[in-house]
Amino acid sequence: MTGHQHHHHQHSTSPDAASAHEKARAAATPDPGRTVVRLELDAREVDWSFTPESRTRAWGFNGQVPGPVIQAQVGDVLEVQFTNRLPEATAIHWHGLRIPAAMDGTEMVQRPIAPGDTFTYRFRLPDAGTFWYHPHVNETVQVERGLYGALVVRGGDEPTLDGERVLVLDDVSLDSEGQVKPPGGWIEQHDGRQGPTRLVNGRQEPDLPMAAGQIERWRIVNASSARYVRLSIGERPFQILGTDGGLIEQPVTAREVLLVPGDRIDLAVGPFSEGDIVEVTSGRYNRRTIRRSRDERFATVRVGPASPSRAAIGGRLRTIEPLVSGDVTVSREVHLGVRPSLSTGVKFVVNKEPHHRDKPVKVGELQVWEVVNDTLMDHPFHLHGFFFQVLAVNGEPPAFRSWEDTVNVSPRSRVRIAWMPDDRVGEWMYHCHILEHHASGMMGHFAVVA
Ligand code: C2O
Ligand code: CU
Repeated sequence: MTGHQHHHHQHSTSPDAASAHEKARAAATPDPGRTVVRLELDAREVDWSFTPESRTRAWGFNGQVPGPVIQAQVGDVLEVQFTNRLPEATAIHWHGLRIPAAMDGTEMVQRPIAPGDTFTYRFRLPDAGTFWYHPHVNETVQVERGLYGALVVRGGDEPTLDGERVLVLDDVSLDSEGQVKPPGGWIEQHDGRQGPTRLVNGRQEPDLPMAAGQIERWRIVNASSARYVRLSIGERPFQILGTDGGLIEQPVTAREVLLVPGDRIDLAVGPFSEGDIVEVTSGRYNRRTIRRSRDERFATVRVGPASPSRAAIGGRLRTIEPLVSGDVTVSREVHLGVRPSLSTGVKFVVNKEPHHRDKPVKVGELQVWEVVNDTLMDHPFHLHGFFFQVLAVNGEPPAFRSWEDTVNVSPRSRVRIAWMPDDRVGEWMYHCHILEHHASGMMGHFAVVA
């Protein structure tokens, strides 16, 4: 225990209850920065109904899929007392959080937690935004079976919307008995697993009731192993409010947005009219896999009677200082590649090496990395523990400035990113967030050194 600090127990809710909880949470935080959000989490086997007809032996955090939405204010300390009740070792990675290396949950920084053992994760939450947590051990099995959850950190100055939803997208491959299929053959190794059953918050293509006239904040996480979600909400315009690393500078109106595996996006959605039925879909996206992509539905918004709106988004959300201006020297190139393999057709590598050992970076030395995709398929590049700014995609600046931890790299493309190693020395990594590619070796380790 830490003496004078305030404590909150079990600061988590099911995704649908997030909005009511938000109000309670805000009222209970007179002193942001000195609150400890304490929570017990376990990973265990659970009977889960992904579809109305199926009963699956899934794996979940606290007996649910997804795990509880962890909610906190920026500056809070999060303390998670974790117990592993799985039949195999695991560890939790806090995707997108700028926390000390020792808390990052990878095998580089902690011994996987054996069945029956506990481990306490404890760190301060430095940034507001939508994050998520998932195992970093045997991910193609553990994440696929349902071990993932959202983590929402609120800032002091958030736009006002009429309600909020946390929507965690996933897909699963179930066999005829309704059980999660074990990792498959070479096509799946190559493409990544893309299951035909689409899930929102652990349920197949749910209905989302919404009041006419209202504008909601949707915090969306793509937790699927390999699926690229080209998100459309009935082809209606929505506003992008934030990305991986929190709010962007001003709302951006769009009709579709691409969420690659690992990505988050915050949207302002609505208003709709009473009686509207609006399909939330993932449009066809050709990421050059062997299996072809189609338009597919994730959920259906059903709009009921009108309620008054108090939404006030404003034109300015935040200021993001550019990390670099003018000409820069690239400090390193990270090549995403493939190598032939007898057993699986190809192996996925970085700089020609599976599980590449990359050079260290120094605290305070600006990093400008050119992430180069030498392959003929897309890869979502994810950097642990630090946010980056995208400087250019094939030489062109992005449409707006943002903080990211995951970015798509199209075939034969180059994405130039900049990031600053702060004083969190230790072992870090980057990898393709298609879980099968990561497992096969498309990743690099490196140290941040003083
Ligand atoms: Cu969500 Cu190492 O990643
Ligand atoms: Cu990949």
